[in-house]
Amino acid sequence: MRKAKIIGTGMAVPECVVDNHLLARCMNTSDEWIMQRTGIKERRVSPDTYRMLLRLAEAPDKEAFIRDLYDHGLDGKIDSTMSVADLAHEASQAALKSAGLAIGEIDFIVDSTTFPDYAFPHTGSVLGTKFGLTSTPILNLQQGCAGFIYALACGDAFIRMGMYDRVLVVGAEMLSPVFEYSDRGRDMSVLFADGAGAVVLEAVDAASRSGIISHHLHTDGTILDKLYGEIFGTSTFPPISKKKIDDDRCRPRMHGRSVFVQAVKRFKEVIRETLEANRLTAADIDLLLFHQANLRIIDSVAEHLKIPPAKTFTNLHKYGNTSAASVPICLHEALAEGRIHEGDLILMAAFGTGFAWGASLLRW
Ligand code: UT7
Repeated sequence: MRKAKIIGTGMAVPECVVDNHLLARCMNTSDEWIMQRTGIKERRVSPDTYRMLLRLAEAPDKEAFIRDLYDHGLDGKIDSTMSVADLAHEASQAALKSAGLAIGEIDFIVDSTTFPDYAFPHTGSVLGTKFGLTSTPILNLQQGCAGFIYALACGDAFIRMGMYDRVLVVGAEMLSPVFEYSDRGRDMSVLFADGAGAVVLEAVDAASRSGIISHHLHTDGTILDKLYGEIFGTSTFPPISKKKIDDDRCRPRMHGRSVFVQAVKRFKEVIRETLEANRLTAADIDLLLFHQANLRIIDSVAEHLKIPPAKTFTNLHKYGNTSAASVPICLHEALAEGRIHEGDLILMAAFGTGFAWGASLLRW
């Protein structure tokens, strides 16, 4: 009998920092609104998004600038200088380094990415190319903000069943190019950003004290219209058309209030489920790593479960919502800041589009 243990962590975020003040020069928003409603102060974005925002902030006619962007690209170019696989690669290299392993020692890779480099093949294939891999199996999930929890559960399951010994698990997102930095897009564009986090899993004996204990996963697709994106999907025919752009159907959509309510409800449920399944109480948990969507969501759930702030970790003021990357980035930073000690019980929980949500419990 065996289980998986995290033996290395890594993260990557682009160098370009966008604070709320820069966004307020592009659209009708303010540092005060964003801070009060979300807790986000700044976020990291791709160099292309950053250049675009600097230009948009200076543009006298912002509508015309955005129209031109969709018509011609930025400065007449449409090829990105950084893709999501670049972030996945950097975070993976850091995780491998911390595990003291080379990529050739990894048996299997699981990545979750919401918005890929290409419609196909998936981001994992592009990541594999960046590593020069020619036969390592790579699975890609598209589980939105819950992506890392689902990917971790997959990696763990493959190890438990004895199929693989070492698995690289990645949550990588480049979301900043997908949103519109305008009044009509402000409800989403101030929240989401770019980043990647990765962990290396290794098989250990089931009796060993440290390792992954359980996962609890759920999906409810009946209200997916509260957070979704048509973009290049086959829900329209053809998937891409000028009419689709003209009809403003290439932008993600969210009903923020509904997502907020669902997130709080599902976080409470899945954390309770995890505790009950393992005969624990909230007091037994040493650190709770929440998906970083909104500080008010985290505070509300923590307060309800009577989890003191000292047992939660937040970094969304620096990075915004990096979707599938947020939990592994939290794990990496919590470790770097000395917030995790040997033997600690760590509960990780995430919620996002789908709606898909889940929690993982592990002992460090
Ligand atoms: O990872 C999972 C994915 N997403 C989430 O977890 C997001 C969950 N939802 C939320 O975090 C919150 O609902 C938001 C932060 C998105 C919004 O906060 P809210 O308190 O629910 O605000 P609201 O959507 O009810 O909007 C309040 C007002 C509206 O104006 P009116 O109708 O009251 O005049 C919005 O148009 O705030 C306006 N608004 C903004 N104002 C300034 C919406 N976005 C902005 C903005 N700046 N960026």
